[in-house]
Amino acid sequence: MFEDIFEEEMARKSIFKDQSKLSPDYVPGTLVHRDEEFRELSRLFKPVLEDKASQRVLITGSVGVGKTALSLRFGRELEAGAEKRGFRHDYVHINCRKERTPYTVIRELMNHYFPRLSRRGFAPEELLSDVVDWLESHDAYLTVGLDELDFFVRQNGPDLLYSFIRAGEETGAPNRLSVIAISRSSNFFRLLDEATMSTFMHNKIELDKYNAQQLTDILKNRVKVAFRPGTVNDEVIDLISEAASQRGDARFALELLWHAGRLADKEGLEKVTLENARTAKARIHPEIRTDVLLDLRRHERLLLLALARHLKISDKAYTFTGELDEAYKVVCEEYGEKAFKHTKVWEILKKLSDFGLIKTQPAGMEKGGRSQRISVPDAPVETLEKELEKILDSKKV
Ligand SMILES: Nc1ncnc2c1ncn2[C@@H]1O[C@H](COP(=O)(O)OP(=O)(O)OP(=O)(O)O)[C@@H](O)[C@H]1O
Ligand SMILES: [Mg+2]
Repeated sequence: MFEDIFEEEMARKSIFKDQSKLSPDYVPGTLVHRDEEFRELSRLFKPVLEDKASQRVLITGSVGVGKTALSLRFGRELEAGAEKRGFRHDYVHINCRKERTPYTVIRELMNHYFPRLSRRGFAPEELLSDVVDWLESHDAYLTVGLDELDFFVRQNGPDLLYSFIRAGEETGAPNRLSVIAISRSSNFFRLLDEATMSTFMHNKIELDKYNAQQLTDILKNRVKVAFRPGTVNDEVIDLISEAASQRGDARFALELLWHAGRLADKEGLEKVTLENARTAKARIHPEIRTDVLLDLRRHERLLLLALARHLKISDKAYTFTGELDEAYKVVCEEYGEKAFKHTKVWEILKKLSDFGLIKTQPAGMEKGGRSQRISVPDAPVETLEKELEKILDSKKV
C-alpha cells in the first residue's frame, strides 16, 4: 500500500521546472521594462569605465520595483565591462538593513578582500582605508551597492556614507571607490549634508511602480524558466498581475505565482487554476515582510509578537506603551527570556518603526508622559503572530 503511494508520488510530475527561479534571491538575466533605467545607470558609470573616475548614484522607488535586482544586474555588467577593458572593477552589494551597524557593513566588505582576517576593535574608517590600500596596490576599482541605506542612516546617522564617499579622496591618487545608494525614498536625505545630498540628487534614478501590463510581462518571462510548458495560462497571470498592480510590486506578484504553483502541485493538478491564484491572493499579505522578520533580533521579534497578540486579544486598532510593556513581559516569560527595561524597549520600538513594521505616534494628553500609540500597518495580526511564532520556534537562539 505505502509502496503504491510512494511510487505514485515519485511518478507525479511537478508543474515546476525550476522553483529556484522564483526565489527572492534569484536575479533574472534581463529585467523587463527597466531598459531605460539600466541605460541611465550605464551612462552615469561611463566615466568610471572610460576615465577611471568615481561615481555616486542613488536608486529609489517603492517596495518591489526592482531596485535590488537592477543594481545587482548592473554590478555584474560593470565587472564584465571592466574586464573587457583590461582592468579589475568589483561590485559588492551590501544590505545595510541586515547588517545594521557601521562595523558589520564594513565587515562585509572586508570579507570580500581579507576573508580570514578578524578586525574587531578597529574603527570603520580604518578598515575602509585598508580596502582602499588593497585596491591601490592591486590597481583595482570598486563599486559598493549600499542597499536599504535609508534604514541604516536613520539608525546610525550618515557618517559611514561620508566615509565611503571620502575614502581614497585624500590620497591624491585616483578615487577607486564608487557608491550606488539604494533606498525606498529620499526622505533620509534631510539627514545628509548639503554636498552629499546634491551629488545624489543629480544622479538619481527613480523606479516607478509597475502597472498590470508590466507585471504581466515580468510574470510571463518568469513562468518560462520556472514552470513546465503549458502549466500556467494567461488568465492566471492576468489575475495575479491585476492583484499585484495596486501596489506595483513585482515581488508580491512573484510570490503569488509561486504560492499558486505550490498549491496546484499539492493538489496534484496538471495546471495552475484560477482558484489556486485566488487562494494565494487571500493567503499572502504583502504587508508582512517575511524577509524583514527573519532579519530581526530576538527581542525585536518578542516585542512584535507581544504587540500582535495584544492587538488580537483586545480587538483594538492600537495600544499604548504601558500596555505593550506588560504584554512583552508575558511573551518573554513564555520564551524564557529576561525582559528589557523600559528605555531599551523604547529603543526597540523605534527600530521596529524604522523598519516599517509598526506605526507609532505620540499619545498626546491621553496617557501623559512619553506614551506612544502603537499599531501595525494593515495586515492581519493573526498572520503576523503565526509568522513570528514560526520563526521564534525554529530558531531557539
Ligand atoms: N523588471 C523586472 N523584471 C524581472 N523581474 C523583476 C523586475 N523587477 C523586479 N523583479 C523581481 O521582483 C522581485 C523584487 O525586486 P527587488 O527585490 O529588486 O525589489 P526592490 O525594489 O529592491 O524592493 P525592496 O524595496 O522591498 O527592497 C525580485 O525577485 C526581482 O527579481
Ligand atoms: Mg531591495
